[in-house]
Amino acid sequence: MKVNQFPKHNLEESLAGPELELVDRSDFVDTMSRVANSVNVVTTSGSGGEVGVTVSAATSVTAEPPTLLVCIHEQSKAAAAILENGVFCLNVLESAQQYYAELFAGLTADSTENRFNKTNWTRLKTGAPALKEGLAVFDCRLDAVLKEGTHYIFVGQVVATNKGSGVPLIYSQRAYAQPAWLDEGIPE
Ligand SMILES: Cc1cc2nc3c(=O)[nH]c(=O)nc-3n(C[C@H](O)[C@H](O)[C@H](O)COP(=O)(O)O)c2cc1C
Repeated sequence: MKVNQFPKHNLEESLAGPELELVDRSDFVDTMSRVANSVNVVTTSGSGGEVGVTVSAATSVTAEPPTLLVCIHEQSKAAAAILENGVFCLNVLESAQQYYAELFAGLTADSTENRFNKTNWTRLKTGAPALKEGLAVFDCRLDAVLKEGTHYIFVGQVVATNKGSGVPLIYSQRAYAQPAWLDEGIPE
């Protein structure tokens, strides 16, 4: 298993919490659906293939060194490709880019056509497709991989970025949204 090619920390069993019964799956999913997440397309390219997948499970880890993580289901084609390619690009969608969210979740009719046309996509350092008009783009080299339940946690170190304009596309309560700023809005 290639996961072990990227060992980082060996978390020992002694770090596990107390033996308490877990909530059931539907409770977890229902409660988690209330959380607001950005919507992203994680892409990769290389000998393992060129693929992309819609992902809401993505977050910053640390700025020193610049590091983030994404969580992808073990059966996703993207997971196998990232393991093989050792690179990925996190493309954070802008509120007008719901189309890409559905395209890369396999929910639109044209999902199987060439998704990475040159009009909308470019490459930064790793060769993974980067969305030209993405709100925020993080090009990453794979630094560590963890497996938790059904998902891989891919930890990437950021080798290039792109900053777009607009506001983030949000997914919460099983629906897309965009933020309405409170107080005085976005700081200058
Ligand atoms: C808004 C949204 C968020 C999603 N977030 C994730 C996620 O964080 N991780 C994941 O593995 N799949 C996520 N999915 C599901 C994948 O995009 C979907 O299963 C996709 O079809 C997998 O494609 P593949 O099997 O071709 O890789 C999300 C889908 C949507 C619409």
